Amino acid sequence: MSNPLEQYRDSHRDFEQDASANISDNPFEIFQDWFAAADEHGELEANAFVLGTTSLDLQSSLRIVYLKELLDKQFIFYTNYNSQKGHEIAANPKVSMLFFYPKMARQIRIEGVCTKVDAATSDEYFNSRPRGSKIGAWASHQSDVLSDVSVIEERVKELEKKFPNEVPRPEHWGGYQIDPTHFEFWLGKESRLHERVVFDKVGDDWKMYRKNP
Ligand SMILES: Cc1cc2nc3c(=O)[nH]c(=O)nc-3n(C[C@H](O)[C@H](O)[C@H](O)COP(=O)(O)O)c2cc1C
Repeated sequence: MSNPLEQYRDSHRDFEQDASANISDNPFEIFQDWFAAADEHGELEANAFVLGTTSLDLQSSLRIVYLKELLDKQFIFYTNYNSQKGHEIAANPKVSMLFFYPKMARQIRIEGVCTKVDAATSDEYFNSRPRGSKIGAWASHQSDVLSDVSVIEERVKELEKKFPNEVPRPEHWGGYQIDPTHFEFWLGKESRLHERVVFDKVGDDWKMYRKNP
């Protein structure tokens, strides 16, 4: 019996081969091309990626966050600095990112060094958010134990009274930027002969090579 997943991938093969033939030697250009193509081809939430961090005792942990921007070669996302990921990034700023585009049989792996964006950048983004999200940033003590959901509902009521007009950005909420040191672009191909195009940062340059699938 034929495998529907294989058939599905086969129907995308021409597209993948074209993409490989035209691959740039600039990893940021490839990222932007693949990101735009993912959006055009109807990948849901093309900007969602898996963020990997590591605790002080070397336990890795993963969660999805949204890429908000690729600015000056930095990947930017927003979160609570007091969350589990926030503590882990403070202990070890070496993080990893993973984008998966199943319709296109593509995967992008990135490793890099994560630091907080400046306060003005976080303010600008926070101020652009709807009021409910701003209140939520105060109300959620992200990753702390929650005894009951009513605790958050109560906090929201209090915060609505505390901030009847403008809601300021809490200091514990803001952006992180990931400065990449390594990229791998993976293309699903026929007969498992997938392609892996890899870039390592060497000084200010990028060394490009391929890996066995
Ligand atoms: C599609 C999706 C997008 C998400 N985007 C974010 C985000 O941008 N920032 C964030 O802090 N959490 C986001 N989350 C929630 C995180 O996955 C996670 O639950 C939360 O950040 C707490 O993680 P931590 O306890 O490891 O710090 C998102 C979850 C999903 C499923």
